[in-house]
Formats: sequence, structure tokens, C-alpha cells
Amino acid sequence: MTQRVGIFGYPLGHSMSPALQQAALDEYALDALYEAWPTPPDRLAEAVAGLREPGCYGANVTVPHKEAVMGMLDRLDQQAEAIGAVNTIVTESDGKLAGYNTDIYGFLASLSSEAGFDPAGKRVVMLGAGGAAKAAAFALVEGNVASLDIANRTVARAEALIAELRSNGAETSAFAIDSTGLADRCANADLIVNCTSIGMRGSPSPDASPLLDGAIQPGCLVYDIVYNPEVTPLLAQAEEAGARTLGGLPMLVYQGAAAFEKWTGMSAPVEVMMAAARRAMEEQTR
Ligand code: ATR
Repeated sequence: MTQRVGIFGYPLGHSMSPALQQAALDEYALDALYEAWPTPPDRLAEAVAGLREPGCYGANVTVPHKEAVMGMLDRLDQQAEAIGAVNTIVTESDGKLAGYNTDIYGFLASLSSEAGFDPAGKRVVMLGAGGAAKAAAFALVEGNVASLDIANRTVARAEALIAELRSNGAETSAFAIDSTGLADRCANADLIVNCTSIGMRGSPSPDASPLLDGAIQPGCLVYDIVYNPEVTPLLAQAEEAGARTLGGLPMLVYQGAAAFEKWTGMSAPVEVMMAAARRAMEEQTR
């Protein structure tokens, strides 16, 4: 029986998951099909219940369902529970549904494998305080950073995120994204991570960088989790400043790789998935 697996989201126009997951399934010649399952909120419960049928690996979950889906599952992994969001569902052998969040792994694995960066003891500035920022902040605290400054347009949201983190001994503070205090923190940062949608293709501010010119020092690693375009205005600015850069595509691939391993029990072909993601992005932007 052909195994089914797919992604729930709404709308699902630009998801790259079908391309990179199908490439991985095909690499092992598995009889399995990964599909896009655009699902409006009022159909989600019914669609998730369908995962209990035989012949299903599970699913990925994306915007806007990552929180709502939690109440439709039988079991939640501890990281998913801590973040309050599920991006991967695994159908277990008895038909029970387990929820995971592989974004933390995706964030840390891309930092380590693609940039050789270990967060332990490092000073980090994070821009943004939405859903993506939350996974990144939990990952950084779990990685034992020395300090984590969170800057956001809406400062109250940065403060709320800090209050939710079990800081693990990290110094934490909240800033306005345009404050002079933030400029000082950036000047001393080992890592700056952008988790806002500024600079994303199709967003209201595709040509902007979240930081002012001069904010980035050459010794810093600048990580933009925006993956489209591959070189965002922030990354171009970082290159100009002589800093090292990391784009968002590897995080997408590594969170997908972790999901693939949970569904199949096989080691994910990361290079194959990375190449498929690059191809899918090129096709999309053509
Ligand atoms: P996601 O789940 O992708 O993180 P989100 O929860 O909507 O999406 O978060 C988007 C982030 O980008 C937020 O930090 C948002 O700032 P606010 O919390 O103040 O809304 C930030 N953001 C988006 N557009 C922005 C802009 N033009 N200027 C500054 N920050 C922006």
C-alpha cells in the first residue's frame, strides 16, 4: 500500500515541503507520496482524524494550524509542549497521533552543520518575537547562550516571549527594534538572528533590512531565517560589513529531515533534500 504523508496549512501556495520530502522518499525508493493538503481551519479536525487510517506516516503542519492542531493529538513531545506549537505529526503503529516540533532541531542543526556555530556561551541578538522567533529563542536557550536580547517592533511581545523562556541562566532583555540600546548590543553580538518577515519576498517590506547600516560588525554571524530570497537585504548588508552569513533554507531542510526520520525511521538524505529545496525555490522565483 502506498504510504500517505503531507502538509496541512492554509493557504499553502508556496510550501517547499512537498518537493524536499518527495525527493527524500524517492531517494530510498519508498512507496510513499507526500502531498500538499490545503485545509481551512473548520476542516482541520476531520483532516487530522484521517491520519489514523492505515497507510499513513503522518503530516507536517504549518501556518495557521501549528497551535490549533495540538488539541487534536493523543500525545505531545516535550519540546512541542514547551513551545506550544506542533509542526510534525507521527501516526504510530496503533493509530495514535504524536505531535512534535522539529523547528528547534532545524534551527540548531543548521547553525552547527552549515555555519559551525555552537551557541554555548555566546551573545545573541534576536530580531522578532512571533511564532518563528519563539522556536529560535527556545533553541538558543537550550543551547546555553550567555545572553539573549530580543528586539521587536512591538516591545511587549518581546517581553512576553522572554517571560515564557526558562532562561537557563542566560541574561535576557527586550528592546524596541529601532532603539539605540539595540545598536550597542548588536555591536557586541556573536550572532544576530532575524526572525521577522522583513526582507521576505511577498511581504510588505521585501526590500528592507531590519537593521540600520553600520549595526553589523565583521566578527558576527548573521542568520536570516527568511529563505526566500536566498540572499535577503539583511544578508547583503552583513556581507558588505564583512560578517559571516547563514540563510534560512538549511533550517527548512533540517526541520524536514527530522520529520522524515520520525516517519520512516531512516536517516534523512540531507544533501538530496537541500538540492530539491534549491530547485523548488528557483522554479518558484522564475
Ligand atoms: P511568524 O510566525 O512567521 O514569526 P508572526 O508571528 O506574524 O509570524 O511574526 C512576525 C514578526 O515580524 C513579528 O516579530 C513582527 O513584529 P510585531 O510583533 O511588532 O508585529 C515582525 N514584523 C513584521 N513586519 C514588520 C515590519 N514591517 N517592521 C518590523 N517588524 C515587523
